[in-house]
Amino acid sequence: MIVSPSVLSCDFANIQRDTEMLNTSVAEWLHIDVMDGVFVPNISFGFPVLQAIRKHTQKVLDVHLMIANPDAYLEEFKKAGADILTVHYESCTHLHRTISRIQELGMKAGVALNPHTPIEVLTEIANQLDLVLIMSVNPGFGGQKFIEAATDKVARLKALRERHQANFIIEVDGGVNLGTGAKLAEAGADALVAGSFVFGSADPVQTIAELKAL
Ligand code: DX5
Ligand code: ZN
Repeated sequence: MIVSPSVLSCDFANIQRDTEMLNTSVAEWLHIDVMDGVFVPNISFGFPVLQAIRKHTQKVLDVHLMIANPDAYLEEFKKAGADILTVHYESCTHLHRTISRIQELGMKAGVALNPHTPIEVLTEIANQLDLVLIMSVNPGFGGQKFIEAATDKVARLKALRERHQANFIIEVDGGVNLGTGAKLAEAGADALVAGSFVFGSADPVQTIAELKAL
């Protein structure tokens, strides 16, 4: 299991300290949630914070854009240090163009699906994707309750991947803990995002190791 701790739940007054803590863990990725107050009803952070994190880690930066009009910023996210750039299906009118551009810029391209969006919207583009992010909460906030229907969605996405001979990574985001994570692992998730569960635990490094072992 790939573990991608969400920096959204770290102590923003101590980003360097928390990033260095994550560096000592078995997490392969760091999940970076960018929110614009338009696509989602919350504002998180932008380029300067991403650049600051980049300075303190060699880990893969898994950037989740919860913003309107992501096309306007793809190049800037590359410059700021993103390795994986995931856009929301719901915010891209010309998804094929957006995905192609992300890959041309030298990043892995992901598409996130809100809880109400069916996986079938990706059938025509499945072969081109590096990652699909299944939202198991409505995006915008950490610490929300896991939407159970996400587990079956992951299993059906895995079947769709096989049917289309695609090889994108299946990542799940929202309400992940050891209980929900175990079910997601069984359903076929390859990567788990966890924010409040990791940072709210007594020993985040140990918690990450437990998620990895699922
Ligand atoms: C939600 C974000 C998540 C968030 C997850 O909009 O996309 O990445 O940080 O937080 P938890 O793990 O607390 O649900
Ligand atoms: Zn996220």
